[in-house]
Amino acid sequence: MLSARRWPRKQNPSGRIAEPVVLRSPNLPAGYRPRAMRRATGQAPGRINLIGEHTDYNDGLVLPVALGLGVTVGVRGRDDRTAHLVTDADVEPRETWFVLGEERRDGTWADRARGVTAALQARAAILGGFDAEISSTLPLGAGLGSSAALAVALVRALRELFGLVLDDAEIAQVAHTAETEFVGARAGLMDQLASIHGRRSEALLIDLRDLSRIRVALPLALELAVIDSGTRHEHATGGYNRRREECEEAARHLGVDSLRDLEHRPLEEVLERLPPPLDRRVRHVITENVRVRDAVAALRVRDMSKLGALLDSSHRSLRDDYDVSTPELDRLVHLARDDRAVQGARLVGGGFGGSILALTERGEAESAAERILRRYDRGRLVAIVP
Ligand code: GLA
Repeated sequence: MLSARRWPRKQNPSGRIAEPVVLRSPNLPAGYRPRAMRRATGQAPGRINLIGEHTDYNDGLVLPVALGLGVTVGVRGRDDRTAHLVTDADVEPRETWFVLGEERRDGTWADRARGVTAALQARAAILGGFDAEISSTLPLGAGLGSSAALAVALVRALRELFGLVLDDAEIAQVAHTAETEFVGARAGLMDQLASIHGRRSEALLIDLRDLSRIRVALPLALELAVIDSGTRHEHATGGYNRRREECEEAARHLGVDSLRDLEHRPLEEVLERLPPPLDRRVRHVITENVRVRDAVAALRVRDMSKLGALLDSSHRSLRDDYDVSTPELDRLVHLARDDRAVQGARLVGGGFGGSILALTERGEAESAAERILRRYDRGRLVAIVP
């Protein structure tokens, strides 16, 4: 639950909650009156997902790694009820505002911020107006968790500014509610959890069934190039939501609560009972969970070629069974697989445009990416991991 962190509340004689009381330290000079904190900053990283795509909203397994790129939100309190946002990110509009309590979607990136303030107020958080400066080193819409990073960074900044008591699980929920209920993208919880708990040198195995997390070290021999295809598909949210509905429909058809309940049943028997394309969707989800476990095992014994093969088969499954790849992503993955240093490659994130990962030996990723990009004209190298 949310409450004011620093200010204990005083009951007035009518029993109603009165204005917060300001605590004073005995060591401060007489007459000193601390002001409410008027500035704060929140930061949150983007992520790649090593493997385990479109499994999170099916109670499945994911294996994200935090990026060194992310979103920083600086906030300053205002004396009115306005939230005023400016950003240096490559988005339109660069500047916008809205009134707290009157958040309405306008279809722009700023809906993420409106979604955050709406979700906080729905949890009874008392917010005042604020100016927010949002800067991002993370390309937006590139499948690298930028929406979650923006929401998490903003929640962290507002928590500090308004003294809200919110633990990490609640931050994840607020950021997730902003995305699903306000923006309308029925995403899973991976990006928020990866942004909050992820580290650059480690993969984080998250089981979305019980939210347990296990850190898995990245072998020193491994490096990944993250290459943005430069393409964004307008219907990405619609396509994503449609996939989620198909999974729900398949689960209903099979009489289970979630596709995770099928993991111990013989795959062929399960698939036989489903009409197309639900059979292919379910095959992706079930086999992808197996690939996540196999990838963790491969990381532990530092078996790079096994890991590479798993990335390749994840891409094939996302392309052929889950149908979320695009000609540009397929071409980039193909060019990556053609490169002498690349041991495996796949699209990363939700698909329908965005980025790919290419796995190489340590020290090889940058030159591999240069060679790949020479043959693919509109993309760019976004990051080398770790
Ligand atoms: C997007 C969503 C995540 C997850 C991935 C696909 O990034 O935000 O919840 O579903 O797609 O794995």
